[in-house]
Amino acid sequence: MAEIVVLDSRAEAGELAADVILELVARRRDAVLGLATGSTPLPIYQALASRRADLAAVRGFALDEYVGLPASHPESYRSVITREVVEPLGLAPELVRVPGDRGPIETAGADYERAIVDAGGVDLQILGIGTDGHIGFNEPGSSFESLTRVKTLTQQTREDNARFFDSIDDVPVNCITQGLGTIRRARHLVLLAFGEAKAAAIAAAVEGPVTASAPGSAIQLHPHVTVLVDGSAASRLANLEYYRYAWANKPAWESI
Ligand code: F6R
Repeated sequence: MAEIVVLDSRAEAGELAADVILELVARRRDAVLGLATGSTPLPIYQALASRRADLAAVRGFALDEYVGLPASHPESYRSVITREVVEPLGLAPELVRVPGDRGPIETAGADYERAIVDAGGVDLQILGIGTDGHIGFNEPGSSFESLTRVKTLTQQTREDNARFFDSIDDVPVNCITQGLGTIRRARHLVLLAFGEAKAAAIAAAVEGPVTASAPGSAIQLHPHVTVLVDGSAASRLANLEYYRYAWANKPAWESI
């Protein structure tokens, strides 16, 4: 079962995730991180930046990218990763990949999968979740075995992401995303969600049936998952009191 941790604020969740990442990097300087974009992971990146740790050997693989936006567009995930992650954390730009960043789009998925395997796999994958339940950009219906490939965003996701653009018409329709199979191969999944708008998606991911209709439910098939949520995102969890109780009684020797 995933470990569900209910925190008082986004900042607290960011600090806790930063602790876990820095423990990993202390064990392995060149750890491989799976990097989410969007609003949710920002507290992690802000917490990591404030710790001023040496992360120059850390390798990164972004979860996804829009197709049809030039990499130089300020809202391309390449630009976002550079601005929010690579620069503030002091990562080496050449060690951080974004899907579709090399070669033709037709072969970009297979190329990305090869690069992840060559890196030894992802040690820790940071995840957010969409209001429609997507992780990465694996929209409802995505196969649990899927690998990095080009997908079509749902209208819901385009509406949710329109806040980053002048209008919804500017939000790309296509994307390239790590698959649910890619994500499931990462050794540790850290899924974060904040706010009421994510409560239904979190309940479906954590407690709902394992179904392609709720891509986040793929986490139930993974042996090592940490879910960091605030009270609002946790508000629809049936076993909320148990999760709080389990966290309060977590043995001191047991790591996250
Ligand atoms: C982003 C990603 C998406 C987002 C999700 C939530 O790389 O893979 O799954 O995590 O759309 O977005 P925010 O965090 O902006 O609510």
